[in-house]
Amino acid sequence: MTVMGKATPDSAGASPGRDMKLQFDHDDRARALFVVALKKKTNFGVAKQLEQRFNQVIAPKLEKELSRPLSDTNRDDRKRAKTALENEHLYRVWGCLTFIGQDMMWDCVETILSHELPRLEANAGYYFDRNDKLGSLELNPGLPLPANIAKTEIHRQPGGFCFERHDRDILSGARYNGGGMMYTAGKGRTSIAGAGGGDFVIEKIRERFPGFTPKRILEIGCGTGRNTPSYKRLFPEAEVTAIDCAAGLLRFAFANAESEGTGIHFKQMDLTKLDFADDSFDLIVSHIVGHETTHKGLPLMIAESWRVLAPGGVMFHLDVPNQPTYMNLFNQVLNDWQVRYNGEPFWMGWADADVRGIMTKLGVPEDAMIAEALSPAAGGVSWFCHGGRKPLDTEKSDAGKRKAA
Ligand SMILES: C[S@@+](CC[C@H](N)C(=O)[O-])C[C@H]1O[C@@H](n2cnc3c(N)ncnc32)[C@H](O)[C@@H]1O
Repeated sequence: MTVMGKATPDSAGASPGRDMKLQFDHDDRARALFVVALKKKTNFGVAKQLEQRFNQVIAPKLEKELSRPLSDTNRDDRKRAKTALENEHLYRVWGCLTFIGQDMMWDCVETILSHELPRLEANAGYYFDRNDKLGSLELNPGLPLPANIAKTEIHRQPGGFCFERHDRDILSGARYNGGGMMYTAGKGRTSIAGAGGGDFVIEKIRERFPGFTPKRILEIGCGTGRNTPSYKRLFPEAEVTAIDCAAGLLRFAFANAESEGTGIHFKQMDLTKLDFADDSFDLIVSHIVGHETTHKGLPLMIAESWRVLAPGGVMFHLDVPNQPTYMNLFNQVLNDWQVRYNGEPFWMGWADADVRGIMTKLGVPEDAMIAEALSPAAGGVSWFCHGGRKPLDTEKSDAGKRKAA
């Protein structure tokens, strides 16, 4: 499926009444509020109580046995803490409530979609078929799908990201956005690298590289494009391209971007084997993608981003700050639970990855390298950000020019 468009924002802007936002009726809202309240109680009430028990009883006992303090950066200590916590009644209660909360969240999303999907499908169909498109959608049904995404129900989303019933299906995208809204609210946040994520990235890039004005922007692993329109809004003159491997997410992303009056070029592609020539983009970004890759995929994702980045361009990836440097032992164990019970196979692989080492091998210059947790200037949630600026003298970054595959 390829739908192309060349219209300008003046000729085909946002279409009132044809938005791609989920609308909750009274009962949906009541159910969603319950799920969010349950998640908050679990994430803050139960987890806090458990943390107190860990700090006051479990950790001192382990430290006595070891005759030394526990260390957040010692993986054996993480295993010790995990074994001890798994024997705690409250840890099991926390695990059950987290699991049930996620089940209830997906049930709630399905109930909303039972009346919302027809409207969203009709709106998406309008954007697929209209002549005056702002951007384009290029799907590749022959793309070999990465097994870690296609064969796993990430976040336990029913059917997973690559779920597809027909060649205009948007259901996986609608599910992703519905689940994302409630999951985020359950963490006590209004945005998780969702709306505003692009603004955050640009704020950080402008702080480091004043005056940087990209003309060709690529977002990899864009999903339903929650952040993509921000880049077009912030750089209206730039051509914005966004890729993902999941067709259902991309269809939703395309329809949503068109509904917001932003022209973006969405393409179905594997981010570990980008189908772009070297030096194609001035800015390459991603939002919460690295932790959904694999031990093999993460270095390829970074290498491919660096390869297609033009000299003088900026690579900036944003992800969860769950590295031992930023997270205590107790929370590392709770995070480890996600690997086994919440469809997050690479969650701890990401936490332990040597992102700085991967970038150094590629030739990302140390003086323009980013690999740390950053917060918005106004305060709030921090993200682990990694990337760098490619030297104008491309000789220095030769390693990154070799195609990663
Ligand atoms: C957690 S989602 C984030 C989506 C979006 N960036 C956001 O902030 O909502 C991770 C995304 O990465 C995509 N992804 C993971 N591995 C990929 C690969 N090898 N090729 C293309 N997309 C991939 C998934 O399909 C998914 O849409």
